[in-house]
Amino acid sequence: MGADDLDRWRAEFPILESTVYMISNSLGAMPRRAAESLAEYARAWSTRGVRAWEERWWEMAREVGDRVGAIIGAPRGSVSMHENVTTAAMVALGCVSPRPARNRIVCAAADFPSLIYLYRAQEPLGFELSVVPPEPDFTLSVERLADAIDDRTALVSFSHVLFRSSFIVDPAPVVARARQCGALVLVDG
Ligand SMILES: Cc1ncc(COP(=O)(O)O)c(C=O)c1O
Repeated sequence: MGADDLDRWRAEFPILESTVYMISNSLGAMPRRAAESLAEYARAWSTRGVRAWEERWWEMAREVGDRVGAIIGAPRGSVSMHENVTTAAMVALGCVSPRPARNRIVCAAADFPSLIYLYRAQEPLGFELSVVPPEPDFTLSVERLADAIDDRTALVSFSHVLFRSSFIVDPAPVVARARQCGALVLVDG
């Protein structure tokens, strides 16, 4: 797709007629067609009631997931959509139980605060939290993050792009270290 093709899509986002909009990481510009989709949702709810679930809604998380999967190179059936990042992290965290020899969650203070709150809430359940501090310039040292991972680490969680500074974290060395130690990795991408 060339730059001209991309330009054509501007008309699909009404807010771009009146402003420059650069906060797509948070609440993206509303696509014009979202209004039609919301009206369709309301129509299904008002006319089909609870039947709307089995007629379509149950499948949507997977249908949309497959579309996203085609963009990010993930196999069909492996991407599931959730309401927001923090809920998705909570769902993923449900797969990890603390064991005495492996009860640590390693994360970064520079992660989005709602994720840190979620991890703090795991402490009474038996997890121990290891929070890697930010660098003075609001970047994150990948070496410090990797060094915090050891054989007691159950899960490593970090943002690919830090919300405060836009610093891009190189995931490869962190993932390599986690695999070496037998820890799972959760990336807020
Ligand atoms: C990097 C990052 N992670 C997580 C979140 C939180 O997302 P949500 O409100 O979908 O849980 C944000 C919100 O802006 C974010 O920028």
